[in-house]
Amino acid sequence: MIDEQARLLSNREVAADFFWARLNAPYIAAHIEPGQFVNIEVGAGGAALLRVPLSVSGVDREAGIIEVLYEAVGPKTRALSRFGPDAMLPTLGPLGQGFAPPEDRQVVLVGGGIGVPPLLYWGLELRQRAHQIALLVGARTANKHLPSELLTPAADRVRRATDDGSRGHAGLVTDLLQDELAGKGPCAVYCCGPPGMMRATAALCLAAQVPCQVSLEAYMACGIGICVGCAVELAAAKGDTEYGRYARVCVDGPVFDSRQIQWPT
Ligand SMILES: Cc1cc2nc3c(=O)[nH]c(=O)nc-3n(C[C@H](O)[C@H](O)[C@H](O)COP(=O)(O)OP(=O)(O)OC[C@H]3O[C@@H](n4cnc5c(N)ncnc54)[C@H](O)[C@@H]3O)c2cc1C
Ligand code: FES
Repeated sequence: MIDEQARLLSNREVAADFFWARLNAPYIAAHIEPGQFVNIEVGAGGAALLRVPLSVSGVDREAGIIEVLYEAVGPKTRALSRFGPDAMLPTLGPLGQGFAPPEDRQVVLVGGGIGVPPLLYWGLELRQRAHQIALLVGARTANKHLPSELLTPAADRVRRATDDGSRGHAGLVTDLLQDELAGKGPCAVYCCGPPGMMRATAALCLAAQVPCQVSLEAYMACGIGICVGCAVELAAAKGDTEYGRYARVCVDGPVFDSRQIQWPT
């Protein structure tokens, strides 16, 4: 892990308040694995001390480029959205533990909102290893969906859902997952999105006896395991964490086997 001076190459809005940034960061590009993240310093006034944790959504190793997709929701992400080409952004990475490979050929990726980006990098990698990928994407409304050109390279099939029925299935993305699990043999599920969606996905996979990995989000300060601000409760104490019943999302995760997590009831 290093703190690399990343040069912003482009930073454009691709859906309502969703930005796609490409950064030249050769060390991170060469080493980051799907599911890992970076911590970008954006110098946003009072929030300057805290960096923005963002998953990497794609990598061009030869060109030394990493890509991130983010929603401008608050001071730091809005500050990031205002930078233009050639801005230099201190970027710490690679951080955290990424996705573990699936045992089965069939893979279902389930993403909601800002949870989609890490699944895109993972889908791209898995397709190169000849896995069959279905990507299920949920959003509140049509203009919150990422454009097809960013989604289709990561999957053999893309299915969309919206809460208000304005694009794709009218309802929850977990309805699509239920449908996928009913028609499939052995498969592996990877999920990232709002907590309720991940909890529902974990429950469906448990019932179907399908392995499921979730990429958790937590409020993070240091991002490197020191402040313990990102603790998540585990279903059972794990011998190999210093914190017994808790794990730190930034270094023990963000990716966990869904059965490890104590999901709130
Ligand atoms: C490992 C990891 C990977 C992430 N990857 C992405 C990504 O690829 N794309 C992306 O858009 N965002 C991602 N996020 C979330 C992103 O870091 C936060 O949205 C961002 O820090 C918000 O900062 P802000 O100052 O703009 O807004 P804030 O003012 O800090 O927050 C704005 C709103 O978002 C909520 N929020 C902020 N941070 C979090 C969080 N960590 N978890 C849940 N709710 C939060 C707040 O409650 C508030 O409602 C990731 C977070 C983590 C921990
Ligand atoms: S953010 Fe500091 S320990 Fe995880």
